[in-house]
Amino acid sequence: MTRVPFLSLDDLHERLRDEITRYFESFYDSGSFILGKGVGEFEEAYARFSGTRYCVGVANGFDAVYLALEALGIGEGAEVIVPSNTYIATWLAVSRTGAEVVPVEPDPRTFNIDPARIEEAVTSRTRAVLPVHLFGQACDIDAIAEVADRHSLFVVEDNAQAQGAECRGRPTGSLGRINATSFYPTKILGALGDAGAVTTDDSALADHVRVMRNYGSDKKNLNEVIGVNSRLDEIQGGILAIKLRHLGRWIEERRRTAEWYREDLEGVEGLTLPHTAPGIGHVYHLYVVRTRHRDRLQDHLADHGIETMIHYPVPPHLQRAYRGLGFGKGGFPIAEELAEISLSLPMFVGITREQVRTVTGRIAEFLECGEVETGEG
Ligand SMILES: Cc1ncc(COP(=O)(O)O)c(C=O)c1O
Repeated sequence: MTRVPFLSLDDLHERLRDEITRYFESFYDSGSFILGKGVGEFEEAYARFSGTRYCVGVANGFDAVYLALEALGIGEGAEVIVPSNTYIATWLAVSRTGAEVVPVEPDPRTFNIDPARIEEAVTSRTRAVLPVHLFGQACDIDAIAEVADRHSLFVVEDNAQAQGAECRGRPTGSLGRINATSFYPTKILGALGDAGAVTTDDSALADHVRVMRNYGSDKKNLNEVIGVNSRLDEIQGGILAIKLRHLGRWIEERRRTAEWYREDLEGVEGLTLPHTAPGIGHVYHLYVVRTRHRDRLQDHLADHGIETMIHYPVPPHLQRAYRGLGFGKGGFPIAEELAEISLSLPMFVGITREQVRTVTGRIAEFLECGEVETGEG
């Protein structure tokens, strides 16, 4: 049986073995382990990649979202509009500032926050909209900015899942006033541990985050504000700088894999493939299909050695952590439905045409060859 993992970094890491090993040795000998050359060079390169003037590396994506909002002065008493359909870290970072999350439903075709639903969620306390480019597909930032501008709201991107995507030719990470990303190892650009960054054109905001991430200190032993320790680890900075040089090719490979899935699966009954809106770029952090037979299909694939995952089985508003908001089941029906019918197929750099054919063959066999009874939910 050909086993297909959901994700494997083996091939990608093998390609980089020599480059990374050489870097490890020079890092080991450098004696510079905190906020050194590795972080500085990566910040410059990532700002260029994002089309922004500044990048400030931080310890992880959660801190990046939190510190971006904090830099804008968002805290207790404020409301931030978030997608009802996202990884919970987006919500948690808002809650960490003391502000309240105000969820807005997605467009079910793109999984991303529906710009047409944002306005009805705006109140006199709303300060920002926090769109997430979910699964690697950019949000329609122009439509979001139009509502945000009308109500004088900040747009802050959560770009954890979409490094390298674009909206009408403009890169994600440059589309909000200040933006956050994660370099968690499985992301499009992944470190070998935790890492994250904020990107912005605003020098005051960049300076604020740079000070905040280092105990509120710009000069040793002088603390300007009550900061945190959220420095981007030096070794991760160096690794990210190496990986960034290869990112364009990896994104092309992801897009080619998505094309293979589309070629094989288009027209398969009972299956909806990812939809990319016109003018919007997708970098396929995840390849998420939808089917009413999701659970049984997942079991069928597992029985044949194919790993899949669900992003995300429980929407944030139904997590115990947020029961205090009182939403409950039915609170955000589109997010809840997506949680029941979405299935993420294997997607990683180095997956082969044969592996994709194995996955798609098993899916078609299940959905089209009588394995599923019609009408079954
Ligand atoms: C949409 C989104 N926001 C924020 C985060 C937080 O990133 P990290 O895990 O690096 O803290 C993640 C990833 O985990 C994410 O997927």
